[in-house]
Amino acid sequence: MGSKLVENRAKIEFRPIIEWTAIKMHGALDGKDACLECHDPHAASRSNLLAKTPSKSCFSCHSQVIKVSDTKEIPDIKDLISKSKHVHEPVKKGECQECHDGHGSVYGDLLVQNFSTEFYQTYSNQRYKLCFKCHDQELVASKRTTKTAFRNGDNNLHYVHVNRVKGRSCGVCHESHGSEQEKLMKSSTPFGPSGWPLTIEFRKTAKGGSCASACHADKAYDRTAIPAKGKGIPDEH
Ligand code: HEC
Ligand code: HEC
Ligand code: HEC
Ligand code: HEC
Ligand code: HEC
Repeated sequence: MGSKLVENRAKIEFRPIIEWTAIKMHGALDGKDACLECHDPHAASRSNLLAKTPSKSCFSCHSQVIKVSDTKEIPDIKDLISKSKHVHEPVKKGECQECHDGHGSVYGDLLVQNFSTEFYQTYSNQRYKLCFKCHDQELVASKRTTKTAFRNGDNNLHYVHVNRVKGRSCGVCHESHGSEQEKLMKSSTPFGPSGWPLTIEFRKTAKGGSCASACHADKAYDRTAIPAKGKGIPDEH
């Protein structure tokens, strides 16, 4: 079977399904080679007939800034990742498809699962399903746990920051691909309608860490701490 035939079949039978199911289609499908930007109908050695490893096919376009409109630019992702001191494990392995759908998606940023990024929002595990594909929800579900390193004694500081009516998104503190600071901590986070950058200075210590930020004065946590009586999880703030 000629590759042209396979390609045409794909265009006729598959593309309408993408258009029908996805709210947003990926600009890659409008590239001059369309499906063949990422697929090779002959290369059966890789699953899904991918022409290159996923990250290589992504970087064929995302190793430069892409100007989408007068107000929107997609940064050079390859450059951002290669400059990061700490890179998220699946990104390091080049597994972009673990988080992104190369065709299109009903979620923002072509994500395969929901990931809400508004600064403040009421907690629900549905909002961060993308992260819970690989990470245990327990890290944020319980007030008291030892299943996260972000805790003071067993007071769960992920719970304190995220699991509330006015909770914060994971994206307030963490980068998705790579970071300058340890633990994928952002160096600054956009706040308010103008996206004002709030700085975050994170320091890891042997038993905990500390954070000086525009959110609050320098605060430290210690996993071996025994919280004083009556001083448990702070109330909703
Ligand atoms: C930007 C890169 C890219 C482009 C362009 C692209 N694909 Fe894919 N495609 C992928 C990746 C990556 C996978 C593997 C997904 C996975 O492993 O979960 C895939 C998987 C598939 C699969 C297997 C089923 C599935 O959805 O996982 C089919 C069928 C497919 N692509 C068809 C197409 C067709 C037809 C086109 C053109 C309309 C196209 N692809 C364009 C990256 C791309
Ligand atoms: C043929 C070029 C090309 C390839 C290959 C490509 N992209 Fe893109 N990508 C684009 C263009 C153009 C845009 C901007 C238009 C748009 O938003 O879809 C874009 C936008 C994106 C966006 C932002 C979408 C949004 O809603 O803002 C993500 C995320 C993305 N690509 C991920 C990937 C991943 C992951 C791969 C590899 C599987 C990949 N791209 C491969 C051209 C490409
Ligand atoms: C662990 C999940 C994850 C992996 C793996 C991942 N991404 Fe992303 N990516 C995200 C999330 C979440 C966003 C949206 C929030 C953000 O920008 O940090 C995003 C945003 C993007 C954007 C849009 C950036 C913008 O500012 O508009 C592009 C392009 C992109 N990713 C490309 C890639 C490429 C290429 C790879 C593989 C090298 C990759 N991603 C791997 C989670 C991931
Ligand atoms: C495809 C699987 C996958 C997805 C999806 C994923 N991660 Fe990860 N992440 C990992 C792996 C693997 C590690 C390394 C082992 C570990 O620490 O669990 C990791 C580590 C981390 C770390 C610790 C980094 C360090 O330097 O120790 C943070 C923080 C993190 N992820 C945040 C997130 C957030 C936030 C999301 C959602 C946007 C997310 N992850 C989605 C697989 C994933
Ligand atoms: C207020 C900032 C903040 C928010 C919001 C936040 N994290 Fe974290 N997270 C941290 C810090 C700080 C660490 C490092 C803890 C350490 O190693 O001392 C961390 C560590 C992690 C780790 C490494 C494993 C662990 O639990 O120690 C993962 C995975 C992670 N976070 C995922 C998430 C996810 C998913 C969300 C959203 C549901 C989230 N984080 C929200 C600050 C935050």
